[in-house]
Amino acid sequence: MKRKIKIGVLVSGSGTNMDAIISACAEEKINGEVIFVGSDNPAAKGLEKAAQKKIPTFVVDYAEIIRNFKTDPENHFFPDDFDFEDIKIKQSLLSNETDAQKVSTFIETRAIAEAAFLEQMKPYPFDLLVLAGFMRNLTPYFIDRVNTASGKPKIMNIHPALLPAFPGVDGYGDTFRYGCKVGGCTVHFIDYGEDSGPIIGQRCFPIEATDTIDDVKQKGLALEYQLYPQCIQLFAQNRLTVVKMTYTDNHGKISQRNVVKIAQIDQ
Ligand code: GAR
Repeated sequence: MKRKIKIGVLVSGSGTNMDAIISACAEEKINGEVIFVGSDNPAAKGLEKAAQKKIPTFVVDYAEIIRNFKTDPENHFFPDDFDFEDIKIKQSLLSNETDAQKVSTFIETRAIAEAAFLEQMKPYPFDLLVLAGFMRNLTPYFIDRVNTASGKPKIMNIHPALLPAFPGVDGYGDTFRYGCKVGGCTVHFIDYGEDSGPIIGQRCFPIEATDTIDDVKQKGLALEYQLYPQCIQLFAQNRLTVVKMTYTDNHGKISQRNVVKIAQIDQ
């Protein structure tokens, strides 16, 4: 059997996807093991659950970092390798934001928090980082330090909607309120935008007229618990590569998009 991949997990809340991933590893549906669980939120239930399973945990308290930054803007240390302009150009999380102060506060506070995360992760070299209900956007500062091999990104996310519809913080809520007749979930690699990275897998479910928002969430989560381990296992089998797809858009313009190619056989 091939070497088990080492998986790091980041959570912000209850960590039910994290549970599904840990179980899938134990049942050998994923050829891997979860080696740490980190969070931006000291109160995340997922941290407790991981600690009970004897998995190392750590917290980078984003809310505190942002609060301190705003109350005492002169008194903070940026990471030595922080290049504000590089991150500003690359990131597309706030590309429509016109308030320059807001953009710089976002980039600077995230660099401080992300450098702290990288430091906490140092003792645990990992093959894959999975975001399991992690509710913070990662900036190019962090992404570039994790993704070091071209075409082989290492950060996966699960999103509660059929992307590219309904990116953001409330995918099932947005799907329900729009009156969609189908909902779904998406696993994708992280890129510099919000929920915009190359898609690895998707599952969908019907939304009946009698369904409440809680029914939609329940149906969606049940599919998430299947889909996420399946996508992680594709990664563990080394079957995922990101390639550039060239296409002609509706205006005749030639464009390119990063897409995931899934190899049919274990390589
Ligand atoms: C899941 O529905 C996940 O798709 C969503 O948060 C929930 C976390 O549940 N993630 C996002 O919205 C990411 N933007 P969990 O903590 O119980 O796994």
